[in-house]
Amino acid sequence: MNNHERILKLRNDQTLEREELRTLLQTITAEDEEFLYSNARQVREKYYGKDVYLRGIIEFSNYCRNDCYYCGIRKSNANAERYHLTKEEVIACADQGYDLQFRTFVLQSGEDMSYSDEDIADIVREIRRRHPDTAVTLSIGERSRESYQMWFDAGAERYLLRQETSDPEHYRKLHPAELTIEHRKHCLDMLKEIGYQVGCGIMVDSPYQTLENILDDLYYMKDFGADMIGIGPFIPHKDTRFKDEPAGTLEHTLHLLGVIRLMLPEVLLPATTALGTIDPRGREKGILAGANVVMPNLSPTSVRSKYLLYDGKICTGDEAAECRSCMEKRISTTGYNVKVSKGDAFRIQKNALKSL
Ligand code: 5AD
Ligand code: FES
Repeated sequence: MNNHERILKLRNDQTLEREELRTLLQTITAEDEEFLYSNARQVREKYYGKDVYLRGIIEFSNYCRNDCYYCGIRKSNANAERYHLTKEEVIACADQGYDLQFRTFVLQSGEDMSYSDEDIADIVREIRRRHPDTAVTLSIGERSRESYQMWFDAGAERYLLRQETSDPEHYRKLHPAELTIEHRKHCLDMLKEIGYQVGCGIMVDSPYQTLENILDDLYYMKDFGADMIGIGPFIPHKDTRFKDEPAGTLEHTLHLLGVIRLMLPEVLLPATTALGTIDPRGREKGILAGANVVMPNLSPTSVRSKYLLYDGKICTGDEAAECRSCMEKRISTTGYNVKVSKGDAFRIQKNALKSL
């Protein structure tokens, strides 16, 4: 098999034997890349047309009880200037986002235990009450089944929790011993059982990552049946042990976006802020490699430069309205268009049509 045949087989079967997938990722040439991306675009257009979905991220707290070795807001980084928004501030951000035509809000934070489960539920409930035609996504880490259930009942329909790596040994090299891949996967399973649309994902070229790790993650995410897959390059943060490690590459990230689109045709696939950070047109290139979601920042300008998971993050000085219009312009240069809608995964859209 040559690489074109591998790409076509991947598109056709939505999977590929491990050896073939390994060879494809190892030997892909510039010419193969274009073939991969054009196949990925055809598949994404079959399900999502030319639409690009917007999610407004509200980074409501950078306090965190965890100490992930790669992350700039890990608890033992004494240089991180901490903040958390009040409930009212979070809700005001969502109001502003709604006026800017966002129909999905992603509430993201470190694992900040100063908000009770009820506090989070109140925020979700109030946003859904004010804006019934929106979806609320939570991205607040590992919690108990009861907490996840309470927030789902309050109206949160989606949850993002990257597995980071599905290999236990690699996981241990990125996290302190209290955190385990078994528990991370257990959380992902609980979220799915409760009924959330679930997003998982990895960093590309994280320290110690091997091609075998990436293959494991691709098959894991396919098996899990992710509704969304968040991937972006690893980028070092100056206050971490990985400060001198090289950042992930644009090339590797784009290859994986293309491959993921062919393996999980209906998946929601964001062109992430980290991708926009390593290349000035990274997000646009991501869209052209098969991504169909962008997640502009809605956090208040006063706190933006404090939610730094990695160095050099873009958009830290811009107002929400500036990011919104900047994003619209950027997407329009790709031939795709920003769509004002909740932007559910295709399986949900299909079910909604059936029940009409
Ligand atoms: N570089 C890139 N991505 C990072 N994340 C955390 N730290 C970094 C970093 N240094 C990602 C993790 C996490 C998500 C919120 O941000 O994958 O799940
Ligand atoms: Fe934030 Fe361009 S998307 S300034």
